[in-house]
Amino acid sequence: DWTMGAYREEAIRKIREQVGDAKVICALSGGVDSSVAAVLLHEAIGDQLTCVFVDHGLLRMNEATEVVTMFREHYNLPLIHADESALFLGKLDGVSDPETKRKIIGGLFIEVFQKYADQIEGAEFLAQGTLYPDVIESVSFSGGPSVTIKSHHNVGGLPEKMGLKLVEPLRELFKDEVRVLGHELGLPASFIGRHPFPGPGLAIRCPGEITREKLEILRKADAVYIDQIRKHGLYDEIWQAFVAILPVRTVGVMGDGRTYDFACALRAVTSVDGMTADYYPFTHEFLGETATRIINEVKGINRVTYDVTSKPPGTIEWE
Ligand code: XMP
Repeated sequence: DWTMGAYREEAIRKIREQVGDAKVICALSGGVDSSVAAVLLHEAIGDQLTCVFVDHGLLRMNEATEVVTMFREHYNLPLIHADESALFLGKLDGVSDPETKRKIIGGLFIEVFQKYADQIEGAEFLAQGTLYPDVIESVSFSGGPSVTIKSHHNVGGLPEKMGLKLVEPLRELFKDEVRVLGHELGLPASFIGRHPFPGPGLAIRCPGEITREKLEILRKADAVYIDQIRKHGLYDEIWQAFVAILPVRTVGVMGDGRTYDFACALRAVTSVDGMTADYYPFTHEFLGETATRIINEVKGINRVTYDVTSKPPGTIEWE
């Protein structure tokens, strides 16, 4: 009779057997997979684990603080908060091509992670929250289509380059099983149920050039939108929801004055695995109320649109 409790015990035993008394480093993104992997590893090997949270300055409102606080204070997990936002935003300055953005962020991520990992003396292992579908995907992709729609952000190839061995305690699990294991390990339900968030972060929700001003506006609009979705009890019905700030200013009227501010697009989709998706059929009432709130509460936005594109032909993210 298979239970997640038994899986947890077995996974812990295997991690201890593989790692011995060596040190392990783990890139913690705050996503469900890396978080569950980190907590499981910490339970298995305690302070032999050090996590590195790379903050690229492209996170949502309060995200860095929430992740760092939860893991340091609640889980007592040794965690380095690598605040490298100045570096990332500097290198992205003036860049508007989506693939160039992705390549810059992916490359810097590896560089930064390596820099912090080098400071951890005697590290022999790199832990990753690789899931079973990732294992299969990387196999089938080698013979698959050669068209790259988007170059995905990951740390593949890093372990060899750094001379580290891999620990992948979630390799046999599917996403829903990782969530069950997360519950088993005591991660809060609100955390486990979070929508996916892409590695390149807000960069790919800010078509055109990225500026600190746009990121700030985007963070505020996104926070209002997600608050609306939660208040209406829709969060768990939706696979992913976010705001994209558009690279265009439009004319509006507020009180008795003219405004000339950014337009934004709301995105919400349902999906099983992110490979295909349908736009979420919000009511007009919800959309109208949300638009009013965003325009009233977020300085810098005076127009709100709703993206009604499914995938295909659209992708979920805007870039
Ligand atoms: P698209 O936009 O390709 O997104 O329809 C499908 C899913 O993948 C997420 N996504 C990423 N996740 N690194 C990630 O970890 C990336 O570079 C990346 N690009 C897209 C996206 O948020 C959606 O859930």
